[in-house]
Amino acid sequence: MILLTGASGRVGRAAASALLNAGVPFRVLVRDPAKLTVTDPRVEVVTGDLGDPQSVLRALEGIERALVVMGNHPDQAELERRFATSAQEAGVAHLVKISSMEASAEASAVLPRNHYETEQHIVATGVDWTFLRPNFYMQNMLMYAESIKSTGSFALPLAAAVTAMVDTQDVGDVAAAVLSGDGHAGQIYELTGPDLMTFHEVARRLGGVVDQSVCYREQTPEEFRATLERFISSRWQLDAVCELFAEIAAGSLAYRTEAVSDLLGRPPTTIESFAQRFSAVFGRDHG
Ligand SMILES: NC(=O)c1ccc[n+]([C@@H]2O[C@H](COP(=O)([O-])OP(=O)(O)OC[C@H]3O[C@@H](n4cnc5c(N)ncnc54)[C@H](OP(=O)(O)O)[C@@H]3O)[C@@H](O)[C@H]2O)c1
Repeated sequence: MILLTGASGRVGRAAASALLNAGVPFRVLVRDPAKLTVTDPRVEVVTGDLGDPQSVLRALEGIERALVVMGNHPDQAELERRFATSAQEAGVAHLVKISSMEASAEASAVLPRNHYETEQHIVATGVDWTFLRPNFYMQNMLMYAESIKSTGSFALPLAAAVTAMVDTQDVGDVAAAVLSGDGHAGQIYELTGPDLMTFHEVARRLGGVVDQSVCYREQTPEEFRATLERFISSRWQLDAVCELFAEIAAGSLAYRTEAVSDLLGRPPTTIESFAQRFSAVFGRDHG
């Protein structure tokens, strides 16, 4: 049996629908079952919290493989590591962790450093592991959908940096393939989309799909921080995001890999097909 954490989130939700489509049985550990988009009588649901050890133990009963994914939070590293230890003690054979492409021993920003240290913790438990390290999520652009729709522009502090942004559906599909397949133990997969793009190019290509001119405005780090302060109340989160974006601006995500097509046997999602899927959100609905 497979256990998914984060199944109400972007990657976990995608992994859940991929497993369901493939007819692979699985269980989810969720805080609020009402947030699940995959509702099927074949899916076992354990209501709990990664911060609640009893619910984690209930969720881990009889589990062979588990997906470790959680949103960024000051307690994320601690909770993911405790989950890994509990999984090892409960007899789980293989953990698949959603990490990030900047995770490395040299990472200076707190989010990728935490991911790297959690990876090392998982290795030390002795269970089989696979680390999925995605590039920038295409879904991050949804945060700017309202601005794109109303002003035809969006702003980020990324200057002319390039990323090979990836669709979280592809990340979830890879997670499902790794969880239900063999030969992935001890592998690190860096997951990217098909194209290296500046955000000027992202704007041009998004605009092409929604049939309106979209412009990317380069923000200073100070402007970015002031904008974020309106939405993020946690000082930790604010600092973590600003630090991460400074690294991306300096080129930390400026490479692409073939991992998605190698693992899925199909090319990764393009920015056009992502934008088409969300065209009602970004602009005129092309249906
Ligand atoms: N954004 C990017 O560009 C990017 C790129 C590479 C890697 N990443 C990594 O991707 C991960 C986030 O993945 P995502 O986008 O799929 O996350 P997401 O959409 O933010 O969802 C987070 C999930 O974690 C669950 N969760 C949070 N706290 C929990 C707790 N205490 N107990 C149980 N579940 C909890 C949430 O449940 P609720 O629904 O109950 O809140 C939700 O299901 C992060 O580790 C991030 O560093 C992000």
